[in-house]
Amino acid sequence: MVSPKQSRTNALGIKSILGTEGLSASQIRKILDCAFAFKRLSQSGLEPVSPLKGKSVTLLFFEPSTRTRGSFELAAKRLGASTLVLTKESSSAEKGETLLDTARTIEAMRPDVLVLRHPSAGSPHHLDRILSVPVVNAGDGFHEHPTQALLDLMTMEEFKGSLEGLKVLIVGDIAHSRVARSDIYALNTMGAKVSVCGPPTLLPPKVENMGVTVYWDLEKAAREQDVIILLRIQFERLTPGQIPSKGEYARFYGMNSSVLAKCREDVLIMHPGPMNRGVELSPEVADGPRSVILNQVANGVLVRMAILHLLTGGEALKGDPS
Ligand code: CP
Repeated sequence: MVSPKQSRTNALGIKSILGTEGLSASQIRKILDCAFAFKRLSQSGLEPVSPLKGKSVTLLFFEPSTRTRGSFELAAKRLGASTLVLTKESSSAEKGETLLDTARTIEAMRPDVLVLRHPSAGSPHHLDRILSVPVVNAGDGFHEHPTQALLDLMTMEEFKGSLEGLKVLIVGDIAHSRVARSDIYALNTMGAKVSVCGPPTLLPPKVENMGVTVYWDLEKAAREQDVIILLRIQFERLTPGQIPSKGEYARFYGMNSSVLAKCREDVLIMHPGPMNRGVELSPEVADGPRSVILNQVANGVLVRMAILHLLTGGEALKGDPS
């Protein structure tokens, strides 16, 4: 869900990025264009002229993270902003302070953007309603992870040229995946054809109502796809019996050389990370020529730069994947 508060002072016309559900094609286009413009600038050996100089970005992370936290911090610094990083363990949340009191305390220090990762679905939406600072959802429970979806779209567009009509298969633990939810909303908005595949125990009820085709057989599902996204099995969120064992899961839903051999020659293999090597995908696929997993990580910095730039009033920049 996008923040209901509209902002006339930035090029996106919204205060916060809370999800890809409700983001329009034109808002997604502006974020991707801006990220490609930053990429072009960086490839020419230039850095943006510190558009966020004098501004500050606070990162409040109540769950572990390598990619999202690291790339938001790098993105803010590359744009000239100062950063404050607080984790659950390093904040007074550990002493029982509520999320709202922590967030109000942070707001009193006048950050320009608050980036929040939290295990409770809806927590960034709650803060967005109460605080005046723009909030970016860096992952809320099972709900959404919009910046991951946007970097996924950037990577697909970079390698495939266009999202319109692109066939994208998402494999695995869809039920617990905020990445899957955000990817599905954003890809559908941009005209891609999305399918999902996984054991019935890991697919949400009525998942087809999200505008996806459902498969249970990976070899059949994978054959004609342009892009295959393997999702991390979220062992910390599984209830007993949802999968019989890691080995059994890998046998039926793991991407390996034998399944890859039946796919299109130019298929892209993606994974949001962190990977369970040998479970969702075999090491030779993860490190093989079709894998763009590290390109996703690199694009994560650029997409987060674009979001910070646009939410703080930066002009819409023109860039393209070519
Ligand atoms: N993809 C993703 O969100 O990774 P992190 O948990 O490392 O941020």
